[in-house]
Amino acid sequence: MTGPMAPRDLLAWYLDAGVDEAIGDRPVNRYAAVARPAPVAEPPPAPDPAPPLPAAARAPSGPVQTAYDLAAAAASVEALGRALESFDDCPLKKTATNLVFCDGSETARLIMIGEAPGAEEDRQGCPFVGPSGQLLDRMLASVGLDRTQVLISNTVFWRPPGNRTPTTAEIAACLPFVERLIELVDPAFLVALGGAAAKTLLARNESVGKLRGKWFPYSTPRLPRPVQATATYHPAYLLRSPAQKRAVWRDLLAIKKKMTGDEPEA
Ligand code: URA
Repeated sequence: MTGPMAPRDLLAWYLDAGVDEAIGDRPVNRYAAVARPAPVAEPPPAPDPAPPLPAAARAPSGPVQTAYDLAAAAASVEALGRALESFDDCPLKKTATNLVFCDGSETARLIMIGEAPGAEEDRQGCPFVGPSGQLLDRMLASVGLDRTQVLISNTVFWRPPGNRTPTTAEIAACLPFVERLIELVDPAFLVALGGAAAKTLLARNESVGKLRGKWFPYSTPRLPRPVQATATYHPAYLLRSPAQKRAVWRDLLAIKKKMTGDEPEA
């Protein structure tokens, strides 16, 4: 057996495992924290079980149903943000510092959905404010757009630890809020930024490279008409692969042209 790890090696090991933030100042002994109830000598006789409810009368349960109920009741973007504050069933909330909901204009004709907040977003409680957000702002500016004309959000509303990809369950728990946000903003256009958002919102499994430049109808029962949806590369990918910036610039030009062409009459 090897001896205890040097503190520096242990920290490096934590970082490799995705643990890059201290949540509390003191370690928690979770074994000690579980208080076991004293054993009971003789359990009281169980009451007769109630007859099972018919299927239709059974209350739906689970995080996704809770999320749908909370989201459906929100009549404004502000109310949806408050509903999210009260939603405790996404495990990401336990490790995040702040809720990261949305930024931009609630009456925007264009909504952009990324994957998940990163470290800076978690600190500030605002989407796309870190390095990829700064690139996104420059990309928008290159086609004459800014955050007063766009609403920006993510597929999940809390930062996954170590910036890992959100799990299917985490995305499913947040999806009712994303869908309701789209309904409340009721934009003409939706852009999925990166593969995770494209897969979640366009329900397509092709790569972003295959999806970009194509338009798909995005509908929900409460949208008055389908939103025209497309995908492009995520700004974080562009930071790693700057050669693709040209492709995204072309995508943004096409989106801007479509927005201008489809402008509602004054
Ligand atoms: N990446 C995302 O997908 N969203 C953010 O808000 C920041 C980085």
